[in-house]
Amino acid sequence: MVDIVQFKRYSEAVLRKFVREYLLALGDRFDEVDFNVNAVIYGAMRWIPAQGQGLEKLLRHTRQIKEGGIKPGVTMTYLKERPATALLDANKGSGFVAATMAMQKSIEKAKRTGIACVLVRNSNHYGTSGYYANMAAEAGMIGIAFTNAGPEMAPWGAKTGVLGTNPWGIAVPRKNDFNIILDMALTMSGQGMIRLAYREGRSVPITWAMTKEGKPSTDPAELLDGLQLPIGEFKGSGLSFMTDVISGVLSGSKFGRDTFTDLQDLGVGHTLIALDPSAYMEPAEFESRLAQFVDQVKQAQPIQPDGEILLPGELEHRRMQERLEQGIPVDLETLERLHELCIENGIPFSL
Ligand SMILES: NC(=O)c1ccc[n+]([C@@H]2O[C@H](COP(=O)([O-])OP(=O)(O)OC[C@H]3O[C@@H](n4cnc5c(N)ncnc54)[C@H](O)[C@@H]3O)[C@@H](O)[C@H]2O)c1
Repeated sequence: MVDIVQFKRYSEAVLRKFVREYLLALGDRFDEVDFNVNAVIYGAMRWIPAQGQGLEKLLRHTRQIKEGGIKPGVTMTYLKERPATALLDANKGSGFVAATMAMQKSIEKAKRTGIACVLVRNSNHYGTSGYYANMAAEAGMIGIAFTNAGPEMAPWGAKTGVLGTNPWGIAVPRKNDFNIILDMALTMSGQGMIRLAYREGRSVPITWAMTKEGKPSTDPAELLDGLQLPIGEFKGSGLSFMTDVISGVLSGSKFGRDTFTDLQDLGVGHTLIALDPSAYMEPAEFESRLAQFVDQVKQAQPIQPDGEILLPGELEHRRMQERLEQGIPVDLETLERLHELCIENGIPFSL
């Protein structure tokens, strides 16, 4: 049955209040609830709702709490520390909280050392990589964040899911304009995008995914249990492998086929890097050189006469501006399911 997704819009303040109350009722601590809220709202502000990065995050988060994969309010502990590095054990706590704490630590360290890299083990889904990269940009630094994820992709040439979508966020600060944020999975698509196409009765590009038998297909029904295809063919597959070497293998977390496999021990690993431009040149000089580079990119001749050249994150920045004015869309199916969950858990449903 074709179901064209419909939305209702809410102000940021209304959504924040709901998400905060909802997560507190599920066991979040007062001192960390806003780490979760900020990450969820950031995704809802910038990405297309019903594809996985909007308020639907709460559905997955709730399910994983119930299954025992996420333990809200747990104490996270630093296992190792050097001047420019640290290793955080998230102890199965929220990925949003763990990655926020780890990036805060990276920023703090990079102020002294110029660069810092904090790894996280035993964590969970952390949402959008760009959010954590942008935390560093907000502090005047270049931020890099990446994570491993469930085995939704086969290594190049194979048909066994081993690698993850393993998204990267790289954010660059600007004083007088929006921070430039590249935020992307290493796969062409994701399960959320395929599910949405299925709901809406649309076919998907042949480059997005293959069936579990390793056959190309544009029919989302055949791809719901299929395998994602990498960006840039074997190059994306290689990037995903290397991402997991650092976020999974080196952090001491799970990796490859084992991430997200045991519902009570999801074992996600993250990498959070902060790089202080002032370790290399005066921030003003960096700013001015960056502006020149941006001008070159913006002035590149478009292939289409009315085409526009966009910076990484520019589309999402515009979406965010529009949503600050018009409200943040939440799809009706997600609202309905959240309503049910609120009833089930005795939480007031205020949307
Ligand atoms: N935590 C996880 O396990 C997980 C897994 C996959 C994705 N994600 C998140 O999902 C979100 C969506 O990822 P995605 O890969 O679908 O994003 P996407 O493909 O929509 O965009 C990727 C990047 O390309 C840029 N871009 C898009 N169109 C452009 C254009 N015309 N010109 C220039 N730049 C352009 C965007 O600004 C963005 O930085 C991200 O926040 C990502 O971190 C999370």
